[in-house]
Amino acid sequence: MSVDLERDGPVALITVNRPEALNAFDTAHLEALLARLREAGAGEGVRAIVITGAGERAFIAGADIKEMQGKTPLAAKGFAELGQAVCAAIEGAPQPAIAAINGFALGGGCEVALACDIRLASDRAQLGQPEVGLGILPGWGGTQRLPRLVGAGRAKEIIFTGRRVGAEEALRIGLVNAVHPAGDLLPRARELAAGIAAQGPLAVRHAKLAIGQAFGETGGGFAQEAQLFALLFGTADQREGMGAFVERRQPRFTGA
Ligand code: HXC
Repeated sequence: MSVDLERDGPVALITVNRPEALNAFDTAHLEALLARLREAGAGEGVRAIVITGAGERAFIAGADIKEMQGKTPLAAKGFAELGQAVCAAIEGAPQPAIAAINGFALGGGCEVALACDIRLASDRAQLGQPEVGLGILPGWGGTQRLPRLVGAGRAKEIIFTGRRVGAEEALRIGLVNAVHPAGDLLPRARELAAGIAAQGPLAVRHAKLAIGQAFGETGGGFAQEAQLFALLFGTADQREGMGAFVERRQPRFTGA
């Protein structure tokens, strides 16, 4: 259980390492990722960052539902803000960040990938925002970044149905940049990172800044997302949705 940082010349590789829970994020792992991101971002000579998940099955299966289940609205707001800070750290890092999506990228996992500059997927990857099936909504920027990437209509359909998007569809709709056979994913991500690292580092950094001005994080929508996320933690539907996941059964929502 950890978030690991490894240096390979100018490339920093960050691995979320909690495969027994499909790399789901509890508070400790979120805080560890934030620390590793800051370390990588400030690292002497780091020119690109690759983020991936440990094991064969998952990039990140989302926020830890078992930890979230009993949160009060206030605690849920804090949890949304911590995840948003992680995504903002990725988006605000001086170096480009590449998500190497090696399996499930669901909920908060998809949101971490959305905050990266470039997304590469394995042919087994499945992305999605299944939060509404838990009685909540995406709280780490998914309501803001997914529509920017794939358009409002597609984002709404993906968020309102909670369905999973396979690698080929993700490529077709622009949710990922490329799809690679599972065994090639990390080498290809490292190769892409090394190609970026060989360019003028100040030029790349400033290009990221300039693009960020047009498409990067802005205040209002994110703050409102965190507030709406928190509100849902006062509902019976949130308790039912998360209880159903833990008990491995279908939820029965009442709209209360
Ligand atoms: C806690 C999780 C988890 C999660 C998986 N696990 N995802 N634990 N939180 N998000 C755990 C399971 O409980 C199980 O532990 C182990 O990982 C393996 O998962 P299984 O469910 O047994 O595997 P499988 O049947 O293959 O199904 C894989 C899966 C499913 C489809 C990915 O695990 C799943 O639906 N997970 C939840 C995905 C999700 O809803 N993510 C969004 C979360 S909300 P045990 O100990 O039982 O073996 C979110 C909000 C973000 O991310 C914003 C917050 C502010």
